[in-house]
Amino acid sequence: CTAQGSAPNTPTRVAPTSPLVAAAERDRRTATTRTTSTVLNAGISDVDLGGVPVTTWTYNGELPGTEIRIKRGDALRARLSNGLPQPTTVHWHGLALRNDMDGVPVLTQPEVAPGAEFIYEFVAPDAGTHWFHPHVGAQLDRGLYAPLIVEDPADGADYDSELVVVLDDWLDGLDRDPDTALANLKKNGMVMGDRSAPHMAGMPGMDHGPVDGDTGMGMPQSALLGGDAGDVVYPHVLVNGRISSAPRSVNAKPGQRIRLRLINAASDTAFRVGVPGIPLRVTHTDGFPVVPKQADTVLLGMGERLDAVITVPDRTVPVLALAEGRGSYAQLLIRSGRESDPTASDAAAQQLAALPALATGDLRATEEVSLPKRSPDVTHNLVLEGPGAKYEWTINGKAYRPDDGLPIRAEQRVRLRFENKSTMFHPMHVHGHTFQLIGPNGRGPRKDTAIVLPGKTLEVDFDANNPGQWLTHCHNVYHGEAGMMTVLSYV
Ligand code: C2O
Ligand code: CU
Repeated sequence: CTAQGSAPNTPTRVAPTSPLVAAAERDRRTATTRTTSTVLNAGISDVDLGGVPVTTWTYNGELPGTEIRIKRGDALRARLSNGLPQPTTVHWHGLALRNDMDGVPVLTQPEVAPGAEFIYEFVAPDAGTHWFHPHVGAQLDRGLYAPLIVEDPADGADYDSELVVVLDDWLDGLDRDPDTALANLKKNGMVMGDRSAPHMAGMPGMDHGPVDGDTGMGMPQSALLGGDAGDVVYPHVLVNGRISSAPRSVNAKPGQRIRLRLINAASDTAFRVGVPGIPLRVTHTDGFPVVPKQADTVLLGMGERLDAVITVPDRTVPVLALAEGRGSYAQLLIRSGRESDPTASDAAAQQLAALPALATGDLRATEEVSLPKRSPDVTHNLVLEGPGAKYEWTINGKAYRPDDGLPIRAEQRVRLRFENKSTMFHPMHVHGHTFQLIGPNGRGPRKDTAIVLPGKTLEVDFDANNPGQWLTHCHNVYHGEAGMMTVLSYV
């Protein structure tokens, strides 16, 4: 596509400007003078999921999109060129960047029209495993996502090599595309995801399995998330763009320590990840270091990231990603020493499903990244409810409106109290800030996205240090698009 008809690239600030914004931006212009330039062509392309050819929406024709890798303090300059039939934007998930680069239509920028371009340029203040995706409709669910890795030369992690592992759920068949899926949800209420719906049982072509608690692979339905598989039926799950029968692989050496950078880019699926027989040493949550902890498997909600180091054994092992509550899985092979039977993954997945998964709430941020002790200046309650007959998900009884939000002030310690009154889990995400879960010791992990379990309340704290209008929402894209979003608005 061409830049024809594109608006001149003036990052338009729709939200009110404040002198604080300028100050924050100046503060962020720290550290390095390096700028990395990249081009993101959002367009329609053919991709191969591993014997399953699909035509879908991608960045630069790749699935996942090509990784962007910079160093902390560097500037990123990304030219988005919109070759899609719809307007789009890019949101840089996990970064405390300047507000006008956050990619939220109406709040921080106008949508980028088909055929137009927009240049994102900002400094990345926080190291870690992050990612990016559009913030328009459910476009993310078509395959528009890619890793954004911000390296910190001094992050202290001890490993030999890295492996970025991106998890996704793939729509096809019945729902075809996210717009249709969302329209169906709105038309039929919860029928697509309601496990009591009789038409779901034995639906042809679904490796999702019947819905009465037996997932069709002999795996128990997980009680971890309240047992609900999600709102939309996904015939496939993917690791780095591949279904389980056609995995990607990497070569490694026995004894090598690999840092796995796990990213859940799915729209409606939590993943349980593990390497059969190999302990994970969890080191980071959403990019921020934690006191390392061993686990057999970890659980990631949509939008969450987690880093863990493994030591490669003297045999080929899969990194398995199980769609929690759905029974399907995908994998990535680490080839080392003896070959192993690829079909052994079925049994390994079943074993993994039966092991206890590490809850991120059990982790503790390291001393250096823990918020200084302070009581909150303001507490906002966010009551999460839905979906009712109209398929509407609400926060404090209201569906999203860009001009309606929760006021905060610069310099405040803000507490968010997410109260989940629904029967589904919600991975709640805050833009432009990283919060700290209030664990039993007041020192849970630093995160920007955290699962709120059905019927439960989750409290998180953050320091209001990045003025602007910041979206806060459920990272189930269907919940978000059906209203479960609000704005943290600096006043
Ligand atoms: Cu990755 Cu507003 O989200
Ligand atoms: Cu939700």
